[in-house]
Amino acid sequence: MRPTTIAVLGGCGHVGLPLALKFAEKGHDVTIVDIDAAAVEAIARGEMPFLERDAAPLLRAHVGNNLRATTDPSAVSGAEVVVCIVGTPIDEHLNPQVEKLVGLIHDLGPHLRAGQLFVLRSTVYPGATAHLARVLDERAPGIDVAFCPERVAQGHALREFEELPQLVSGVTPRARERARDLFGCMTDKLVEVEPLEAELGKLFCNSWRYIVFAAANQFYSLCVSHGIDFYRVWGAITQDYPRLAGFPRAGFAAGPCLFKDTMQLAAFYNNEFTLGQSAMLVNEGLPRVLVQHLREAAAPLRERTVGILGMTFKGDNDDTRESLAFKLRKLLALECRAVLCTDELARGAWWRSLDEVLAQADVLVIGAPHARYRALTPRQRVLDPWNLLGRGGLLA
Ligand SMILES: NC(=O)c1ccc[n+]([C@@H]2O[C@H](COP(=O)([O-])OP(=O)(O)OC[C@H]3O[C@@H](n4cnc5c(N)ncnc54)[C@H](O)[C@@H]3O)[C@@H](O)[C@H]2O)c1
Repeated sequence: MRPTTIAVLGGCGHVGLPLALKFAEKGHDVTIVDIDAAAVEAIARGEMPFLERDAAPLLRAHVGNNLRATTDPSAVSGAEVVVCIVGTPIDEHLNPQVEKLVGLIHDLGPHLRAGQLFVLRSTVYPGATAHLARVLDERAPGIDVAFCPERVAQGHALREFEELPQLVSGVTPRARERARDLFGCMTDKLVEVEPLEAELGKLFCNSWRYIVFAAANQFYSLCVSHGIDFYRVWGAITQDYPRLAGFPRAGFAAGPCLFKDTMQLAAFYNNEFTLGQSAMLVNEGLPRVLVQHLREAAAPLRERTVGILGMTFKGDNDDTRESLAFKLRKLLALECRAVLCTDELARGAWWRSLDEVLAQADVLVIGAPHARYRALTPRQRVLDPWNLLGRGGLLA
């Protein structure tokens, strides 16, 4: 595809910014449009607002040249392509909020113009693309609408854009063709599907991972309830046994996507997605399993100071959104003398230094498996659902 002008709506976000950087690296002229003024300013200064591998040098190389950021929505009017990758959280009743995307289209309408390609890349409720295309047609006719879901793993996006196949769909054949041209600048692995298939496909990806993590977490919980070290069993059965190659370790399955996308699929399936909903109960219940184990193995908890190492939703990342380490902290705070939290990459009012936590805690829990913790040899007993330290899955 020849270099084109691209506006990335939500381009300050965790996956929007890497995408904007990748387009800029491929020679396109990119404008980030985002409501987060602080993040827009950081990007304009050439500073990454969060951790993303290899992104900082790319940002410095392109900002002020073929990449800029603004909070002004009218900036989309000058772009040939508008990519929308705003957040799509579920509401307090675990329901999708398609109306927020509709509101965004309404607000944006006056700035959109016929002939543009509008690529929806947020993870959406099935049928949302067709619905938004109708809304767009009323507000700003003559726009090609495509849905091309984002499937990268946060933190590894820049590498994965070129490694993973891109799912490409369009409301019309022309929209799909234009989307294919756009993503063809990253990879020649393009998989063409219908919008509904792409929407479901993305939700299947995240629900599948969520369910697989839940399976490991339920086996882990079963072992803990019997005082058995899950990793003695896991290590024995996964060794040189290819059929179990996809059997993950236990650990918190959380973050901004897996839970909410499983719930989007549950809503689509009239709350009859029993496997996904059970996965939610298992994964969200893991902090309670850990607390119950500590109650029994580190009694009396009221006299214990517990240290949590790692507060992000996954290892070697600085994102604390929807992290179950905070649920663990909340539960422990009700029962322990004190809970001290530290993290290698994230900061907050809760933050203590690693040295302080190691000095003051009676018992440690791994809350996020940052690689740095692997080398620790703490004097205390550690509860480590990932077995990062190699002491097993029980308090040891
Ligand atoms: N985080 C991931 O690993 C990941 C992976 C694949 C897909 N996704 C999907 O991508 C989407 C974005 O996720 P994220 O984690 O990057 O979220 P995020 O919250 O980090 O980023 C969303 C961005 O959208 C901006 N925004 C919100 N409303 C806006 C508006 N009206 N106009 C302009 N900007 C607006 C926010 O300020 C924010 O910068 C979601 O649908 C998510 O499910 C995320």
